[in-house]
Amino acid sequence: MRFERDFVQQVESGTDLVSLIQERGVVLKKAGGNYKGCCPFHSEKTPSFNVNPRKNFYHCFGCGVGGGPLKFLMEHDRLGFVEAVTELAQRAGIALPEMPSGGRYKDSGDPGLAALAQANEFYREQLRDSTTGLTARRYLAERMVPEALWDAFSLGFAPDDWRLLKRTLERRKVPEAVMIEAGLIKPSERSGQTYDRFRNRLIFPIRDTRGRVIGFGGRMLKGDEGPKYLNSPESEYYHKSQVLYGLHEGLSTIREQREMIFVEGYLDVIRLHEYGFRNAVAPCGTALTEEHVKLVERYAEKALLVFDGDDAGRNAALKSCPLFLGKRVQVRILTMPPGEDPDTLLLNGGAAAFGAVRQSGKGLLEFWVEQTLARFPDTPEGRVQALEELLPSLQEVEDGPLQQLLLQSIGERLRLRSETVLEAFNRLKKSNSFDINASLPEEVLLRDECWVLQAMLSAPRLIVQARLQLQADDFQDSRWRRFFVFLTQIPDDQLADWTPNSLESSHPEFYAEALELLATEALETHVAEQFALSLGRLKERTVARHQNRMTPSADWEQFLQHGIMLRQERQNFRHYRSEPPTSTS
Ligand code: UTP
Ligand code: MN
Repeated sequence: MRFERDFVQQVESGTDLVSLIQERGVVLKKAGGNYKGCCPFHSEKTPSFNVNPRKNFYHCFGCGVGGGPLKFLMEHDRLGFVEAVTELAQRAGIALPEMPSGGRYKDSGDPGLAALAQANEFYREQLRDSTTGLTARRYLAERMVPEALWDAFSLGFAPDDWRLLKRTLERRKVPEAVMIEAGLIKPSERSGQTYDRFRNRLIFPIRDTRGRVIGFGGRMLKGDEGPKYLNSPESEYYHKSQVLYGLHEGLSTIREQREMIFVEGYLDVIRLHEYGFRNAVAPCGTALTEEHVKLVERYAEKALLVFDGDDAGRNAALKSCPLFLGKRVQVRILTMPPGEDPDTLLLNGGAAAFGAVRQSGKGLLEFWVEQTLARFPDTPEGRVQALEELLPSLQEVEDGPLQQLLLQSIGERLRLRSETVLEAFNRLKKSNSFDINASLPEEVLLRDECWVLQAMLSAPRLIVQARLQLQADDFQDSRWRRFFVFLTQIPDDQLADWTPNSLESSHPEFYAEALELLATEALETHVAEQFALSLGRLKERTVARHQNRMTPSADWEQFLQHGIMLRQERQNFRHYRSEPPTSTS
């Protein structure tokens, strides 16, 4: 069984987030209704870690982490879901629910995960099927993937059929909506009829760290058309920026060796495992992300980044460097010899060849500077250009002394005097801060955009009012505009017991926005008052914008209409402002 959602909610709301965080040595100071401190998830000197005790949320404006008590405990103490819920329950003095006779926790309760697991079984059977699986088995033999590895990685085959998976799962009573949500089938654009997403492809199931199948990568067979690899779409289960292929299979080795080897492809991971490098992982159809780096920080101390010996590989390598700057991970990077990837290298030269190439790995800074330098002419001007290319990423390094050391080291590598480096760096800093000052009034209004949304999150009944009073056009920041539109689209009958908490599973793409807003410090104490004031200012801005747009040459009819509209808008917000503030907290 798994913990029921209700139980988890009960445990979370029974937990005082502020003291949970303080118990872990984080110093929090009261700031308005919120608490502020230095973020325990990245190194910083000025506090950007915010805790909202009313909503039991935390959010760091520096590194973007955020969530409720459960998420905090899981990430901070590096606990699994079950461990973390158990600990919180004990801490809050809430009795754990009875376990069923089997006594083991698993997740078969979730229909989407169950469907994914069944699809995985289906694909595996198809690969073994004497007739259907023939072409795929032949392909695997050609690529010299031994049978032992089919099992280790649960490889499968999606047959050349538009609806075989769909019909099979239908017979097992899996609802169509669940199959769509899990990314297994999709509706046709023309007829709206659903059909299997993966067809005539070799299937690589992708698992989360607990071994649950959450998505698939599918490789086309020889001579077929379409993209070489097709991956599961983003869903409640599958977030490509957070997934690493091979992480589940290699987790025990990774924990033991405290190292992860990053490669580019599915088959590279499998081949490395075959040759005894069981700590190999690969992102799935995406470049490396911050979230991947967090996974390294969680499970290992060292990372070896291996990129293919082609242009795409070299570019990807260069782009990955800034992600690791200032992180507590010891990184080495290398690119394969031209035209090779780890798969071909191991097949041709065995573990010895890979071992030799591995020796050629360079330190993060050395690699980054060298590769950037190579893109510019080796002249003083060229070296300064390279420097300007490197500096913006260094601004992101929060640890001051480390930043200084990095600057110094880069200067040495570029054969530039440290004064030159510092001058360029300070110039960059100045031009950035100047931008902020210049746009101060906008900043203030942006704050109003945040406050309106924050109020809507805190008191969902305000969403109804916002729908009447505000338009998407009142938001200048595209991110907040999108979020506003999203909030106003929540149906009325769901608003009564809607909470921003539910976004994590229902609309993960908006969860970050919600966290950020809830952790934003609010000035006014009364939610409704704050809402009305900010709303008024936003309306005023829209009115002003419309007026500016009016030019004397505009034709009269339009002018009149516009004038009437403006008056109405003005009245609306005056009316709004004159309402007495009501307290909601
Ligand atoms: P590669 O093109 O280097 O393929 O893509 P590969 O891994 O060497 O594959 P084989 O050896 O030809 O079978 C590297 C990775 O990029 C993603 C996949 O994750 C792939 O493993 N990719 C590539 C896609 O997502 N879609 C594509 O169309 C191609
Ligand atoms: Mn390959």
